[in-house]
Amino acid sequence: MSFRSVFIAIVIAFALILGAFLVQRARPRVETDQPNVEFVKATGKCAECHSRQQYSIVHEFEMSKHATQGVTCLDCHQPQKGQEKDKIDHNGFQITAHITPANCRVCHEQIYQEFVRSRHAAPSWSAVFGEGGLTAEQVDAAKKIYAGPTNPRTGDRIYPGLEPGSEFAWSTLIAGPETFLGGDFFTYMVFQDPTWDFHTLDFDRDIALADATLAPIIDSTSSDLSGFRSRGGKLLMYHGWADPLVSPDTSLIMFKRINEAVGRAASGSLALFMVPGMGHCQGGPGTDQFDKVAAVDQWIESGTKPLSIPASHVTGGIVDRTRPLCAYPATAHYLGSGSTNDAKNFQCK
Ligand code: HEC
Ligand code: HEC
Ligand code: HEC
Repeated sequence: MSFRSVFIAIVIAFALILGAFLVQRARPRVETDQPNVEFVKATGKCAECHSRQQYSIVHEFEMSKHATQGVTCLDCHQPQKGQEKDKIDHNGFQITAHITPANCRVCHEQIYQEFVRSRHAAPSWSAVFGEGGLTAEQVDAAKKIYAGPTNPRTGDRIYPGLEPGSEFAWSTLIAGPETFLGGDFFTYMVFQDPTWDFHTLDFDRDIALADATLAPIIDSTSSDLSGFRSRGGKLLMYHGWADPLVSPDTSLIMFKRINEAVGRAASGSLALFMVPGMGHCQGGPGTDQFDKVAAVDQWIESGTKPLSIPASHVTGGIVDRTRPLCAYPATAHYLGSGSTNDAKNFQCK
């Protein structure tokens, strides 16, 4: 080998080392602090160690689209801005065990943006963090929805509020720039003026106007069911606790009024079933599938008021929960063992 080629080799080697050093120095700190993605991919360190400790997690990961697309464990478990408190030193890596949408955001920006603006985000957030992290304005708006509208002058309640659990349907019925049903009611029926702007609604004057003009036609608030009762009628009422359209309290109020009007005799002809987690007549996470007609039929035939009705929740045609519905004021109580998705582990009391 000539001296010339040895010299050239040394110069090239030196240039390469210097180049590598400069490139390394120019890298942002986060990259040099932590083993980078390429390193994790190359060594498979997380997966290798965890397949000994928690094989199921690695197995699940291996079967995911993330794995086939080269997304690594650290891609998700890398602490993001705002997760400084959750940062843990873990076998030479800095990771977070508490993954939030911020960790998914890195790659799914659009879905992240949709999620944080959705009504999914607010209830799950408040279930975990209470009011923390919500603006005073957001908390105030939610409180108003739970409380229902009142007359600003007299303080009287105009209509009961919605119950906790109804939030899953707020997006359709309450949120957004337009009103759902209430706006059209005032525009076309109360004011009969298509240009009327719902923002101008006066909860004192305009409610009184609606009552004066339309209550005689629309209201069905009489608690006098004596005629119905005296010819042997049986009334089975049911209402979803999570109804976001008609407040479930309206049924409770009616139930109470009928009982007050008729006295103890009412209990022979009136039964109310409040359905936890059910939306407007159906839907929601509650057990919304139950045979009302069969219950009334049995009541008439046997003369015995139903004290519970078997109900189920169905997802994609498959029953994934059963529960007894209990005649108000009884509620379903868990007996303390067995699946909470199985009606036989509950008792009405
Ligand atoms: C040397 C083996 C080893 C390596 C390498 C390793 N882990 Fe772990 N990891 C464990 C063990 C063992 C546990 C359970 C005990 C514990 O919490 O320390 C664990 C726990 C965890 C937890 C739960 C921590 C908690 O506080 O709940 C997460 C998340 C995690 N690992 C992710 C990772 C990620 C991501 C990587 C790669 C960047 C990784 N691990 C690398 C062994 C390892
Ligand atoms: C697509 C993102 C993603 C990837 C990729 C991913 N994880 Fe996770 N990991 C999560 C989420 C989300 C959780 C649930 C966190 C929670 O319960 O708060 C989790 C939970 C865990 C836990 C349990 C933490 C605890 O507190 O008990 C461990 C351990 C873990 N992952 C390890 C790994 C390992 C090892 C890999 C790679 C083989 C990996 N993860 C890949 C998102 C991911
Ligand atoms: C490092 C980038 C990255 C991160 C971080 C990440 N993902 Fe993904 N994700 C991907 C890629 C790439 C795909 C595959 C896209 C495709 O094939 O359409 C994917 C696909 C998915 C899919 C579709 C899976 C399927 O089988 O069709 C879901 C759901 C998903 N990601 C959820 C999440 C969630 C939840 C998190 C946070 C816990 C997360 N991702 C974090 C890159 C990432």
